[in-house]
Amino acid sequence: MNICETISDLRNRLKTAGRIAFVPTMGNLHDGHISLMHQARQQGDCVVASIFVNRLQFRPGEDFERYPRTFEADCQRLRAADVDVLFFPDETEMYPQPQRYHVEPPVEHDQILEGEFRPGHFRGVATVVTKLFNIVQPQVALFGSKDYQQLMVIRNLVADLALPITIIAGDTVRAEDGLALSSRNGYLTAAERAEAPRLYRLLSDMRQAILRGERDYAKLEQHVAETLREHGWRPDYVAVREKLGLQLPSAHESGLVILAAALLGSTRLIDNLEV
Ligand code: PAJ
Repeated sequence: MNICETISDLRNRLKTAGRIAFVPTMGNLHDGHISLMHQARQQGDCVVASIFVNRLQFRPGEDFERYPRTFEADCQRLRAADVDVLFFPDETEMYPQPQRYHVEPPVEHDQILEGEFRPGHFRGVATVVTKLFNIVQPQVALFGSKDYQQLMVIRNLVADLALPITIIAGDTVRAEDGLALSSRNGYLTAAERAEAPRLYRLLSDMRQAILRGERDYAKLEQHVAETLREHGWRPDYVAVREKLGLQLPSAHESGLVILAAALLGSTRLIDNLEV
């Protein structure tokens, strides 16, 4: 695996790379990330991963400083997954001066769900992903469904700006007890880790209720939020939305997804389940 720390190094390496499949990450890689690398392997001649903890998508007071940085272990995992090139820029390579031009998602994507609780987050994501796309110039890029709203933002960004990139979604990889793998799970205490799978269990129950014909989504959402609170969580939202666009369900809905975010201790967990 080649490790490129600068844009010019990377561009040189990729000159004759053929079809490039790209997986952007912030590192601290787990099986969720690695499953995207395996899918990328099927898609391209050259698999490029990036590791960059993007300051722009963190709010003041969020976990930018303490976000786990585990470069050596990440490299081992990427090599084992047969990744060809790792782009590993530092802050001055990506942001030699504070970023002035940004990619701004529309309010109906930016100010709902995650965006309501993390203002500016998707603007930071959209900006860095566009920049990474311009640097890597992949034909295919892979993103996890774990971050459902992020995936929607990226799909719409690529369509609206006519970027010549095919976006492929990877299924959420979970621990045996159902907890979605996340770099943030490492923040959980042992007791919190034992409690954490409740989020997925409640979403699964909610999905079953909808499949059985329950249409009072507000009642289901409140029940899940209430149950989480009873077990010490502080839910930000539990929401049934349309898959495409994540708006409130309409009469002619295209299919539904349940999304939730909640704090367990000081750790914020998100999850979702398509119905
Ligand atoms: P990060 O959280 O490192 O995630 C990188 C990619 O892995 C994302 O596409 C994410 O959806 C996917 N992923 C995370 N957990 C997963 C799981 N359990 N199963 C499947 N896929 C999973 O998302 C980001 O980084 C950043 O916002 C980024 C896109 C790199 C921009 O900075």
